[in-house]
Amino acid sequence: MEEMLQRIQKISKLIQVMMNICLLIFGFFIPVGLFVAFMPGFTDKDLSEVHTKIVDSANLLPINIVNNIFGETHLELQITLAGIFIVILAGIFVYCVFEMKRIFKKMSASRTPFTMETSAAFKKLSIKTLPICLFSTLLGAAVFLTIRLFAYVFEYGSYLQGKADETNRIQEEMIMSFAEITENKSEQTGKHVRRVAEYSRIMAEEMGLGEDKAKIIRLASTMHDIGKLLIPSEILEKPARLTDEEFAIIKKHPGYGGDLLKNVEGEVMGLAKTVALEHHERPDGRGYPEGLKQGDLSIEGQIVAVADVYDALTSKRSYKQAWDEKDAYNEILKGRGTQFNEAVVDAFEKAYAEINKVRQELQE
Ligand SMILES: [Fe+2]
Ligand SMILES: [Fe+2]
Repeated sequence: MEEMLQRIQKISKLIQVMMNICLLIFGFFIPVGLFVAFMPGFTDKDLSEVHTKIVDSANLLPINIVNNIFGETHLELQITLAGIFIVILAGIFVYCVFEMKRIFKKMSASRTPFTMETSAAFKKLSIKTLPICLFSTLLGAAVFLTIRLFAYVFEYGSYLQGKADETNRIQEEMIMSFAEITENKSEQTGKHVRRVAEYSRIMAEEMGLGEDKAKIIRLASTMHDIGKLLIPSEILEKPARLTDEEFAIIKKHPGYGGDLLKNVEGEVMGLAKTVALEHHERPDGRGYPEGLKQGDLSIEGQIVAVADVYDALTSKRSYKQAWDEKDAYNEILKGRGTQFNEAVVDAFEKAYAEINKVRQELQE
């Protein structure tokens, strides 16, 4: 009898240890596995799906864990984790069945009745075991829920960031397409727009305007010649030098650009309007259309002015050959303080290696 009680105690303790190990796996490793498994798939979920998952996580007690393991993303990892868990549980179960069978076989062989002492020993063990199991379960569930909740917070953040990025990308693509239409009409290719945009960004960064501002200037610069949409094609595409009258018409394109963009709102479009109006102005007041002087001009307009002239010089046109890049570089430096803003020319000079690299990469 004593021997049997000891055996029951031994099995009970073993079950308790195994249960605690299981709960530990349950409470820690599976949530961590799921957390890792869910992380990469965050951005392509829609809002309702994210909300549903947050609501679901409230029901995520261990009893629901298997449903959750067999989720739709990263199925292989989740099945593996669930498999490991099930194998451990099955192992404990099989071991318990065999042990109990052995005990009862021995009991019936010795014809010992199931006495009060045996029952009391079971009761004592249950009282000790149950709180530990319960505590582990609650701890595991709490850890699991906390990790999941953090995962959903990240997921929701990534979702919102993804949406914002997508909106910005679509806006950027639309602006670039519109700018390319303008450039095609004025006999240049879309690469002129892209080169001017990159040169402007590089100079803005060199001047310390910050990465965000540089990006906005880059985008706004793509519409600098939008007013050319209103200039007759015969003048824009004329394969010879323009007459004074024709040049007077061309000079109207910054004003037309300003008119086209006058009712638009937002930082990028507002700056696009300024750049369209000012990109042919000069600090010495000899530019067009208004002949404004340095103090009246925006730094963004003057950055794009340098980028536009440098690209015009280094590009082939129907009426001229492309200049050698060294000659074009010297021409920009020569215009410091008269044709171009001094600080912008300094930035051009300092960042020239990068500008020249972009020119080579975006050649026609
Ligand atoms: Fe222009
Ligand atoms: Fe241009």
